[in-house]
Amino acid sequence: MTKLWLLIIPALLLATTVMYAQIASPKAPTSAEYEYRTNHDPNGIGKFYMGREIAHVMGHLGADWLERAERVAEERPDDVVKNFKLKPSDVVADIGAGTGYFTFRISPIVKQGKVYAVDIQPEMLALMEQRKTKEKANNVITVQGTEQDTKLPESTIDLAFMVDAYHEFSYPREMMQSIVKSLKPGGRVVLIEYRGEDPAVQIKLVHKMTVAQVRKELEAVGLKWKETKGFLPYQHFIVFEKAG
Ligand SMILES: C[S@@+](CC[C@H](N)C(=O)[O-])C[C@H]1O[C@@H](n2cnc3c(N)ncnc32)[C@H](O)[C@@H]1O
Repeated sequence: MTKLWLLIIPALLLATTVMYAQIASPKAPTSAEYEYRTNHDPNGIGKFYMGREIAHVMGHLGADWLERAERVAEERPDDVVKNFKLKPSDVVADIGAGTGYFTFRISPIVKQGKVYAVDIQPEMLALMEQRKTKEKANNVITVQGTEQDTKLPESTIDLAFMVDAYHEFSYPREMMQSIVKSLKPGGRVVLIEYRGEDPAVQIKLVHKMTVAQVRKELEAVGLKWKETKGFLPYQHFIVFEKAG
């Protein structure tokens, strides 16, 4: 009898240990769209979408960096805005607007329209509100979005664009679905990202994107690729359209 207990007690201990280990161990998040890897680039969040690792969000303490003087030569913002080919009555959405580096260049061009400046960080929105007051840019509307939703009104946007922002959206699929919903039929999306195919572009890997990857991700939400323009020194300018 004593010999039998010597066998049963360790077996019970083993069973309870396994059970609690299962309850206590953090469960990997599951999602049909996303994959999570523990072995990943330190500049990324370990979450992958269509094989691409998502980057960390740039915090509001980097606001001055977005306004750096060298950016004019590096990213040619005036050429970017010219290539948006805007009409004065257009309604534009700057998604992941940051300090409004592009928003406030667009505001005087769409005098009869408006610019929605969407961001998830209240500190960025506060900086844009200050600038809006200073510049009397009354057609700028700041919008606090969430990681999955722009919170823009449906079917109102002529052009939605993202500069150096999409690669850090933690829910890229949901964000793009929300953007598509906000577009008018025939509305455009422009994505500007550092060129992932080009090793000469000295930017961390998770902060760059290839045209093939961008097309794969944006076509997956029903957008139609129109053209990729190569006028920028380091970035792609990729145009998509929502079916009319
Ligand atoms: C690197 S900054 C670029 C800012 C601006 N587009 C520019 O070119 O100066 C990226 C911005 O995207 C914002 N962001 C990240 N995820 C977002 C999301 N899901 N929705 C809206 N904004 C987001 C961040 O808060 C940050 O302000």
